[in-house]
Amino acid sequence: MLVRITGLLSKDEVAQCRAILESSPWIDGKTTAGEQAANAKFNLQIPEGSAEAMQAGDIILRALGRAPMFTSAVLPLRVLPPMFNRYDAGMKFEAHVDGAIRAVPGANMRLRADVSSTLFLTEPEDYDGGELVVEDTYGSHSVKLPAGDIIIYPATSLHNVTPITRGSRWSSFFWTQSMIRDDGQRTQLHELDMAIIQVRQKLTDSDRASVALTSHYHNLLRRWAEM
Ligand code: NI
Repeated sequence: MLVRITGLLSKDEVAQCRAILESSPWIDGKTTAGEQAANAKFNLQIPEGSAEAMQAGDIILRALGRAPMFTSAVLPLRVLPPMFNRYDAGMKFEAHVDGAIRAVPGANMRLRADVSSTLFLTEPEDYDGGELVVEDTYGSHSVKLPAGDIIIYPATSLHNVTPITRGSRWSSFFWTQSMIRDDGQRTQLHELDMAIIQVRQKLTDSDRASVALTSHYHNLLRRWAEM
């Protein structure tokens, strides 16, 4: 399931992130890729764990905390610190799957990457190419969003970033370990949650059907959640 959140960051917060990134050094993106992905990866990144990455990352983590759609779609257990990349003209990332297990920088801890997220930090009219293409069972989806919007997709999916032909595309990307490992179960819970929100607008909260649906949601979550 692909989920888009419009305006996760305000335009002000996008500008703040970009100002921090402008003062940061950029390194070869191959640094954080496995051997196979490194051969497919041609981009630049802010060093993982650097002061700039932490500072801009905090702006994003705060925004996630106030986004009920992120909680509903991802059911996050742990979010890795956001990372930042940049594709200049000629750069691209060919088809790959993100690594399953990631080390948490500065902590003796690893997490399982269940959900991948890309947050756009450049307006689409400022560059050509640079679409994020995600393949799932329904075919491939090409994604290019306004600055401040985020796309959430299963970390199990094959994806690529098409070559940039003009301008420069900046974005943040990060992984989340979900309480629900399986994408199908996570999708079901998200769809049920969205349906309950709609039903509650039509029924009163004392209506037994509304209460029964909410109970069903929590009891499925209780049955499936891993912490
Ligand atoms: Ni990737």
